[in-house]
Amino acid sequence: MGFPHKHLIDISEYSADEIMQLLKTAESFKEVNERRIKQVPTLKGATIVNMFNEPSTRTRSSFEIAEKRLSANSLNFGGSSTSSVKGESLSDTVETLCSYKIDMIIVRDKHAGVPRKIADLSGVHVIDAGDGKHQHPTQALLDLYSIWEHKGSFEGLNVGVVGDISHSRVCGSLIPALKIMGANVCVIAPPTLIPANVEVLGADSVTSDFDSVLPDLDAVYMLRVQRERMEGAPFPSLREYNMMFGLTQQRDRLMKPDAIICHPGPINRGVELDSFMADHPDRSVILDQVYAGILVRMAALYLLLGGSEDGITA
Ligand code: CP
Repeated sequence: MGFPHKHLIDISEYSADEIMQLLKTAESFKEVNERRIKQVPTLKGATIVNMFNEPSTRTRSSFEIAEKRLSANSLNFGGSSTSSVKGESLSDTVETLCSYKIDMIIVRDKHAGVPRKIADLSGVHVIDAGDGKHQHPTQALLDLYSIWEHKGSFEGLNVGVVGDISHSRVCGSLIPALKIMGANVCVIAPPTLIPANVEVLGADSVTSDFDSVLPDLDAVYMLRVQRERMEGAPFPSLREYNMMFGLTQQRDRLMKPDAIICHPGPINRGVELDSFMADHPDRSVILDQVYAGILVRMAALYLLLGGSEDGITA
């Protein structure tokens, strides 16, 4: 079966079947990642630009590894080392890159909408690696992959998305993706960190009473408190935030015995997540999420650049 998308910019444009195709393709790449020589020639000759105009550890490094494992040529580019600091416009930058006959641009930018603009300007494949407060679709895919791996399915699963909803691009993709896959989603946050239009994300319920819903959750997804994006003081102190909305050791006893803990990283330890819970040997799947980042990004590169689920490896 072919893949009907050119870009991965808005996860809401993907159906449940297409997301599952991505997850199954990601699963099939596990075998490549367990080989002694972790590389296949699948994307040999393809040129991919990683344009990161904002800091990143996980997304950038896992895209670079995914490209190397598929034998693509990578150009790492962006931020203060480019001619944008001399006043070059985004469209001139994109035109310049496209003169090199590239195949794909992967972009992270602090401004929402930049990946779509690049897609319109360039004509090449585009993956959104996080744009402003808007979306982070490959993060949602790796989150789904980890939940699927640990829980087996999404239908009827109770997932709590906890914390800084207002400033999070992660939940901008994750909540719609969970709903597409059939999970029940509860948003848990201080009233000051819930956007006015939270219903557009599609969550089933919204509460500020973490302890009342925690015992029902199969997966507890803790969001990072995005201090760099906050204006004013949406809560009195980090200590109070941790008491009300942090996943503390005290809250462990309120959780289902088999409930899992997810976090996109980077973690503010002692704020949204205590170290005891972040490193919980039975519950925390955070490092599984990091590993899944390579698998789903390999799958996205492969499917968008013209592959099908069959005949992946060589
Ligand atoms: N989760 C995530 O996007 O992490 P980075 O900012 O390190 O890429």
